[in-house]
Amino acid sequence: MATLPLSSVMILLIAILMAMAASSEAAVSKGSFEENFSIMWSKEHFTTSEDGQIWYLSLDKETGCGFQTKQRYRFGWFSMKLKLVGGDSAGVVTAYYMCSENGAGPERDEIDFEFLGNRTGQPYLIQTNVYKNGTGGREMRHVLWFDPTEDYHTYSVLWNEHQLVFFVDNVPMRVFKNNGKPNNFFPNEKPMYLFSSIWNADDWATRGGLEKTNWKLAPFVSSYKDFSVDACQWEDPFPACVSTTTNKWWDQYNAWHLNDDQKKDFAWVQRNLVIYDYCTDSERYPTLPEECSLSPWD
Ligand SMILES: *[C@@H]1O[C@H](CO)[C@@H](O)[C@H](O)[C@H]1NC(C)=O
Ligand SMILES: *[C@@H]1O[C@H](CO)[C@@H](O)[C@H](O)[C@H]1NC(C)=O
Ligand SMILES: *[C@@H]1O[C@H](CO)[C@@H](O)[C@H](O)[C@H]1NC(C)=O
Repeated sequence: MATLPLSSVMILLIAILMAMAASSEAAVSKGSFEENFSIMWSKEHFTTSEDGQIWYLSLDKETGCGFQTKQRYRFGWFSMKLKLVGGDSAGVVTAYYMCSENGAGPERDEIDFEFLGNRTGQPYLIQTNVYKNGTGGREMRHVLWFDPTEDYHTYSVLWNEHQLVFFVDNVPMRVFKNNGKPNNFFPNEKPMYLFSSIWNADDWATRGGLEKTNWKLAPFVSSYKDFSVDACQWEDPFPACVSTTTNKWWDQYNAWHLNDDQKKDFAWVQRNLVIYDYCTDSERYPTLPEECSLSPWD
């Protein structure tokens, strides 16, 4: 298994030092769940720790469960710690995503992290995807350099007019660029809610549905904590921050591109962790989607 590159260890150390220095400014939401989230379906499958700071979603044969933010956001930094279902979890999918709608409407924009469970001892795959106006099909799949079921890890999205970056523990896993012109691939117009859910996907997630969820092991539980958002919160018809997003670090020059350390980490991810990239799937896309020609290094 590949080891974490030195540069990300450095970033982590620096981040810890910075967090210690500025903990009073941390944007981590320590409020109650109800303040910022609602349950989308099956309340009885949602529980919290005694202090309310850890949330558990469970899946059994009847149903899974999901929650969403009450607010919508357009551009910003979104982050949460997740611990995924362990053991034999093939067929179980934990989704952590942003979407402009409550349902799977035909004109939705969406930014997805999906964690595909696996048989005991087999690695979890992480699938990311992007939708614009109902069109997705932008999947990438990665393996991770740790077991995501053993402990909490941080999964984050940086979203501005220039790029979308998917991070795992501050390592950039995927960069999705805008070309700066009107286009049909980069979601930049619709504010989005943040969601998470757990569900059964043994019809597609496990080698195309070959393996089935082992219901004897139910309920399957994924855990969440430390939701943090630093973003432009939406208000109709549109909030003032939409036109002044460059006041915020997540929409300033340094957030429009990967920095040198991030580029090193990203190169390491490209070499070691990518399992599938739609941009290299010429069987599926004889003509590759337009954004595949945009360089993540720019
Ligand atoms: C959480 O809810 C409170 C109360 O409605 C609101 O003031 C705050 O902005 C929300 N936080 C986020 C991150 O949306
Ligand atoms: C979005 O999709 C809908 C239908 O799927 C289509 O009618 C509409 O023209 C699209 N909008 C844009 C801006 O492409
Ligand atoms: C499960 O692990 C195997 C490798 O051992 C991998 O080929 C397969 O894609 C994984 N399946 C999922 C759904 O992650």
